[in-house]
Amino acid sequence: MVVGLDVGTSSIKAALAEIVSPGTVNILGLSRQPSAGLRKGNIVDIETTARSIDSCLNELERLTGVEIQSAVCGFSGISITAVSNHAVIAVANPSYEITEEDKRRVLQLAQNIALPPDKMIVQLIERQYIVDGYDGVKDPVGMVGSRLEAEVLIIIAAAAALQNLQRSADRINLYLERFIYSPILMSEAVLMPAEKEMGVALVDLGGGTTEISVFQEGALLSTSVLPIGGDYITRDLAIVLRTSIEEAARIKEESAVAAIALANSEVMVNVRNIQGNEIKQVSQHVIADIVAARVTEITEMIHAELVQTAYFDKLPGGLVLSGGGAQLKGIAEVMENYLNIPVRVGRPDNIRGLQHEYNQPQNAVVLGCIGYAVLKAIPGLIEDNRRFSTVFSKISYWFRDLFA
Ligand SMILES: Nc1ncnc2c1ncn2[C@@H]1O[C@H](COP(=O)(O)OP(=O)(O)OP(=O)(O)O)[C@@H](O)[C@H]1O
Ligand SMILES: [Mg+2]
Repeated sequence: MVVGLDVGTSSIKAALAEIVSPGTVNILGLSRQPSAGLRKGNIVDIETTARSIDSCLNELERLTGVEIQSAVCGFSGISITAVSNHAVIAVANPSYEITEEDKRRVLQLAQNIALPPDKMIVQLIERQYIVDGYDGVKDPVGMVGSRLEAEVLIIIAAAAALQNLQRSADRINLYLERFIYSPILMSEAVLMPAEKEMGVALVDLGGGTTEISVFQEGALLSTSVLPIGGDYITRDLAIVLRTSIEEAARIKEESAVAAIALANSEVMVNVRNIQGNEIKQVSQHVIADIVAARVTEITEMIHAELVQTAYFDKLPGGLVLSGGGAQLKGIAEVMENYLNIPVRVGRPDNIRGLQHEYNQPQNAVVLGCIGYAVLKAIPGLIEDNRRFSTVFSKISYWFRDLFA
């Protein structure tokens, strides 16, 4: 059994799955509850966040009948930064066969960077290894060489941000097995291996943040977090339509489109006033006008970020847009027209055996937790089987001896 947890600015998502066989899961339940206590992906109120997580997990327990004690958890937020690093070691073994120990040493060296005391490493991402000058090695263990180099990407966050998530979990006696940088989880759920290999930008348009990550040759190359998300559109809608945030969110999700050209001026949308006691009618065209302006702005920011990383011209896989914001009607088309590269909406299609109702961009990170756990469980399973077979072979020897 695996539990995935995604503590987002708009909602908390939790999923429970059983691993049926290596690579195949059965999702037993998925729960999504409104979240409170976060701003731009950062916890600003531990107590409230803890309560939100608790109510999400309670719902999942109710759905599945399974008691939840631990989870694999996604991590992101505006405190995230990423630094590339590189390290070299001489292979210790006189026969020059690279061992796990060599790999551990080179990674240890690669994560040796000067960090201010208020920062922490969330995750070390192995980009590639170089053995005696030959690059593109994914796993050097067992290869022969005298010089081992590692290229890594170090994901760094504010120590307080990580600790606050840990504390929120502690409040409800939830054990967090691991924090994993959310875009890595999302990539597990939505990206095709070929895209990841060729070069692709993965954009998680959440409620309060937008993560922009570039993958190439199968690994994360660069990443950044913008302090803006779908709630920016909601807020603007609420102001212009003079309504509540909740009502604006509902209108955006049910009736908005990302471009004026996609709107039908004959479609009228009911809008409640702030007090909720009066309803006026606004055409979809007017709503699209407001939404399109914000979508353009968000797209401009994504473009600027990709240009700044210098990878914008190296994305044959185009851009994959996921997260709740990707559910806005027509947003992929608008981005494609603006950016002039292929843009598709990323759904968690990689999770085999996933029920249709869970296959939404909003669930990509939480389902990515499951995908990631399954992937990481494969070596464990193989190891267990091996241990099993040695036990069996020992037993059969023993039997043979007994009856010989
Ligand atoms: N059908 C829809 N159309 C448009 N927007 C939608 C739709 N469904 C959800 N959204 C928007 O998606 C956003 C929430 O997405 P998501 O759940 O991925 O965010 P989050 O993970 O909680 O936040 P973050 O990742 O920023 O911390 C909200 O802004 C919400 O209004
Ligand atoms: Mg999110």
